[in-house]
Amino acid sequence: MLPVRSKKMSVVLCAVGTLGLAIGIGWLPWRAAKFPKPPTEEAQPNQSSPYRNVRAEVHYVGNEVCATCHPSHAETYRHHPMSHSFAPVAHGSPATHDDSYVSQSFQVDGFDYLVEHRGSVLVHREARRDAAGKVVAEAEAEVQFTIGSGAHGATYVVRHEDYLFQSPISWYAATQTLALAPSHQQHNLHFERRIDDNCLFCHCDDARPVEHSLNRFQQPISSRYGIGCERCHGPGELHVQRYKKGGIHSGADDTIVNPRRLEPNLREAVCEQCHLQGANRVLRRGRQPHDYRPGLPLQHYWTVFVHRAGSEKLQRAVSQVEQLHESRCFRESKGELGCISCHNPHALPGSADRIAIFRARCLNCHQDTSCRETPERRLALSNADDCTACHMPRRKTKDIAHAAITDHRILRRPPADFGVQKSVASLPDDIPVPFYLESSGALGADLDRDLGIALTQWPGTQQQRALAEQALSLLESSLRNWPNDIAGMEAKGLALRLTGRPREALQAFQDCLSGEPEDEFALLSAAETSAQLGNLDAARSYFRHTGFAPF
Ligand code: HEC
Ligand code: HEC
Ligand code: HEC
Ligand code: HEC
Ligand code: HEC
Ligand code: HEC
Ligand code: HEC
Repeated sequence: MLPVRSKKMSVVLCAVGTLGLAIGIGWLPWRAAKFPKPPTEEAQPNQSSPYRNVRAEVHYVGNEVCATCHPSHAETYRHHPMSHSFAPVAHGSPATHDDSYVSQSFQVDGFDYLVEHRGSVLVHREARRDAAGKVVAEAEAEVQFTIGSGAHGATYVVRHEDYLFQSPISWYAATQTLALAPSHQQHNLHFERRIDDNCLFCHCDDARPVEHSLNRFQQPISSRYGIGCERCHGPGELHVQRYKKGGIHSGADDTIVNPRRLEPNLREAVCEQCHLQGANRVLRRGRQPHDYRPGLPLQHYWTVFVHRAGSEKLQRAVSQVEQLHESRCFRESKGELGCISCHNPHALPGSADRIAIFRARCLNCHQDTSCRETPERRLALSNADDCTACHMPRRKTKDIAHAAITDHRILRRPPADFGVQKSVASLPDDIPVPFYLESSGALGADLDRDLGIALTQWPGTQQQRALAEQALSLLESSLRNWPNDIAGMEAKGLALRLTGRPREALQAFQDCLSGEPEDEFALLSAAETSAQLGNLDAARSYFRHTGFAPF
């Protein structure tokens, strides 16, 4: 329901009285990944590496500087979807400059959704009609950014003061239409779904969140929209200094990371920092999202929880990374196969040569005769002997969810039901495990803490309550080791709410606030929990403290 009728351009939020702030389990974004707040504990130093640009004090220089000496890389990369995965609408991002969709509107559950161009301003509107067709409530907002290049889809971001929210309207490339955003299909939060640093970490180079906030950003939000060179190569300051002097350097360059030269796990980690979403990602104790740098082991910065091999979920909606790890090509090529065995990260293949390019990639390891199918049949069944047509088929999906479309398991024979859409939520649950279990093993107690946090972040699962009980016992013991771990305390509060103990939950959020008074997650959670306990004055006071004025 839209409680407010608003003529002016603004994000309409629920009345404060009901504190209808979608936090807690309702709020958690797609796939429930959330950055826990950075702990107040001492930051941990970066690992050692032969590369000097992994060090925290080395600065980023930006794509334009790289382009001065590497113009061809810059030119091709400019057309790659990764360099457009976050963009201001004013820059004409791919999913908005095409006027063909502008007049589109659609209806869902009694709401009308429409898009309007008012001069250079793009406006999304949501209206509710009564039985007679009269508009009884409406909300509208100016779209400021797009997330997603539009290659498969795009979501739109609106701004209210310095806070970012997701528009309920999304763009679907497969059908070339606008429709309700994937996240809103499960739970329509209208214009109230927060866009946190979580999204922008993977879709933007250097978004600058306000410390301790959930979805508040410094202005301008970023100086480098999209994903830049240095997310895969590390900061360029030392490298530029070296070559600015005009010197010619021979041998390995320790001032810039070339992923190809890294050992397999570190090489794959460069792509995994964004392409391995897993069931959940938890920032490790003492880490900030951008502490990871190419060349370092990702699992020392993030614990990514994934479904176990053999789990039915693994076959459905997971990333290319997890699927590739299932393939025989990966398992039996002893580290040789990785993302860049097939993908050039600076350029997508053109449609004219894509079959030949991928075929050549397969033939780097296989012979033309490796295939059991006869060449005649291959040619008859697939255009130009497209190896991927039979071994890496595409799912027919309209969705823009974070899951592989192309089957990266590289099977001999894909199962007959491949591509059948089945709701992942309906599949039996298993408790995911850390992706790099072996190499994370040494971090024992820390991993228990990470699992404790993760277990509070699978909303809507049937075993939610049981998982939260388990989380609670893990978190209680980890908080004995690290009593100042704010992320641990927040998760404990959440677990207590999920297990129906609001009073104790409130205490946990108050503990967070005595460590970090500005912690927005704790403030909002304390507000919600107070309201749940019937103490509306306390609820309002916590809410006011966030400094967020919805009207
Ligand atoms: C002042 C000129 C200059 C600038 C600016 C510059 N580079 Fe380079 N870069 C070079 C030269 C010269 C080489 C060595 C020869 C070559 O590979 O072209 C090199 C090599 C590299 C390599 C290969 C290293 C290896 O070990 O294989 C990478 C990767 C690279 N640069 C990335 C970048 C990135 C990313 C930026 C921006 C942060 C950047 N460069 C900015 C001049 C520059
Ligand atoms: C900073 C995060 C980040 C990193 C690091 C990253 N990616 Fe991406 N990648 C993305 C995002 C986000 C998209 C979706 C872009 C879009 O369409 O909006 C994407 C899209 C892609 C695509 C799909 C292009 C298409 O639409 O067909 C490929 C292929 C890809 N990445 C390969 C790689 C490889 C290989 C690496 C490692 C060398 C890598 N990426 C590293 C975030 C990242
Ligand atoms: C852990 C990194 C990560 C996070 C967090 C993340 N994304 Fe993505 N996103 C990706 C990658 C990688 C792709 C490309 C994946 C693919 O094509 O399989 C992608 C693809 C997309 C696409 C489709 C783009 C296209 O055209 O291919 C949209 C839209 C999108 N993300 C929106 C969001 C929103 C909104 C959020 C926050 C609620 C978010 N993402 C959070 C990594 C991430
Ligand atoms: C998504 C990750 C990613 C991004 C973004 C990226 N690179 Fe690279 N780059 C790589 C990888 C991986 C390699 C090694 C490629 C290989 O050997 O196949 C590489 C190699 C290079 C090299 C060495 C020569 C070569 O082509 O092998 C240069 C120079 C370079 N990149 C420059 C750039 C510049 C400049 C940008 C920004 C315009 C950029 N890269 C953006 C991942 C990336
Ligand atoms: C880095 C090397 C490498 C690349 C690149 C590679 N493979 Fe493989 N692949 C292997 C190895 C090693 C095996 C296991 C031994 C064998 O069957 O040759 C394998 C196995 C296979 C199998 C048998 C799978 C099974 O479950 O029995 C198929 C099918 C296959 N590859 C197809 C492909 C296709 C198609 C491509 C290109 C899209 C490709 N491979 C690229 C190394 C590679
Ligand atoms: C054996 C070859 C191969 C390897 C290895 C490989 N890919 Fe792909 N990937 C493909 C092919 C083929 C496509 C389909 C591209 C097309 O149709 O143009 C694809 C598509 C994609 C897409 C676009 C979305 C989709 O699912 O179609 C993304 C994102 C992607 N790959 C990421 C990755 C990442 C990340 C890795 C490393 C974990 C990786 N790929 C490893 C062959 C490969
Ligand atoms: C028309 C579909 C089709 C095309 C195109 C195709 N394959 Fe196959 N491939 C098959 C089938 C079917 C099998 C046998 C599956 C079985 O044993 O049940 C197979 C088996 C394989 C195997 C496993 C062989 C073994 O001994 O275990 C490899 C490796 C392979 N293909 C690689 C390739 C490569 C590389 C290409 C492209 C040059 C390719 N295939 C093109 C259908 C195809």
